[in-house]
Amino acid sequence: MSDERAAPRRLERMEDLVSLCARRGFIFQSSEIYGGINGFWDYGPLGTELKNNLKALWWQRVVRERPDVEGIDSAIIAHPRTWEASGHVEHFSDPMVDCRACKKRFRADQLADAGKCSAREGSSEHDLTEPRSFNLMLRTWIGASEDAAAVAFLRAETCQPIFNDFKRVREAARQKIPFGIAQIGKAFRNEINPRNFTFRSREFEQAELEFFCHPSERERWFEHWLEQRLRFHREIGFDDEHLRTRPHEANELAHYARAAVDVEFLFPFGWQEIEGIHDRGDWDLSRHAEYSGKDLGVTDPETKEHYVPMVIETSVGIDRTCLALLVNAWAEEALEDGESRIVMRFHPALAPVKAAVLPLSKKLAEPAHALEAELRRYMNVFYDDAGNIGRRYRRQDEAGTPFCVTIDFESADDGKATVRDRDSMSQQRVPLEGIAAFLRERVGLAS
Ligand code: GAP
Repeated sequence: MSDERAAPRRLERMEDLVSLCARRGFIFQSSEIYGGINGFWDYGPLGTELKNNLKALWWQRVVRERPDVEGIDSAIIAHPRTWEASGHVEHFSDPMVDCRACKKRFRADQLADAGKCSAREGSSEHDLTEPRSFNLMLRTWIGASEDAAAVAFLRAETCQPIFNDFKRVREAARQKIPFGIAQIGKAFRNEINPRNFTFRSREFEQAELEFFCHPSERERWFEHWLEQRLRFHREIGFDDEHLRTRPHEANELAHYARAAVDVEFLFPFGWQEIEGIHDRGDWDLSRHAEYSGKDLGVTDPETKEHYVPMVIETSVGIDRTCLALLVNAWAEEALEDGESRIVMRFHPALAPVKAAVLPLSKKLAEPAHALEAELRRYMNVFYDDAGNIGRRYRRQDEAGTPFCVTIDFESADDGKATVRDRDSMSQQRVPLEGIAAFLRERVGLAS
């Protein structure tokens, strides 16, 4: 076999990932039995574990390890004035056009993806209206009446409740500037064209940190958080060929931002943003102070200077990062017997299942179940006694399980089991009583 054939092939076609995700229960269309609902996705058993592991690692790095960051979990629906103050009611819109013939709706700035018109004979061009502004916030009604007074919005970003809660959290946690408030949660945007699998969805999760600092320190903290966040993305396995930063041009900046850098990942559909690091200045706190009538400034205990803190934000899409993790993990490898395998090379700390216990025969159920029960105390484990061992290994490779533990008929005699490594496929005999420690050492959080 030539070296070229032996090199693993990265994901090229999103369809290959989408079908694996549905088949193996990572992610699939929401309400599938009714034909799906555009822009909404469900995570199955493997996807949920992957996502939870990613969120736990983010929480560990951004909140738990930092004495200067506090975590919160706010309501999804905030007072409607929140979204007036934040500028979302006025500014949070995309330009939209409709095709008069096929009735499809497109983002005016993404017409290259519009495809051909299905309803115009003699011309494949769409018959487009003038662009109109389309507000992306999803609305709902609170209470029994559907009148205007009861209209509310599902949050379009998780950070606005952080600004609402700034004063309360600072006082309760007895934090001084500089410090941050973080949360992970759902956000909703009525995207005109959800696309690229989960990349642009209408319901998604964000993990956001708002870090409050003195105006004289904003550049320093911007650099600090950019560096921290890049370190995180490298830690979860993104290499320099697939990760880059892109500073925003002045004309791209969101209405609140003074400076912004996108962290981008190279997907099969091109370089795309997975995280934004933003210098939001004092926009949010000043606006919420104005709209609520509350003083959201702070007084420096030493100089007695009263000022509104500046905000440095890190905002990562959990679903987009999960998608990048799936793309990054996917590899097709040629095997020596002429076969090939699909293997999801997740970082072990993020892998949905850490170890599979595979008795070679159903007669070995007793010691295998005993080992499974012991391992379940520490990690997510899968038990599989069906089919030939090669096929069972392949199934675990597709799930991204870093280790398979095979109990065989020798195990009773030598007190050992075979541990197979997902990536190298190498196998070693490990004493049964040492397997939990062996695996825990290898599947913990990256240091
Ligand atoms: N608070 C700032 C903010 O929300 P953003 O750039 O609009 O900034 C931050 O969003 C992150 O949220 C993006 O980098 C992306 O990962 C994720 N995100 C935004 N819109 C999304 C969508 N429609 N579907 C999935 N993820 C989305």
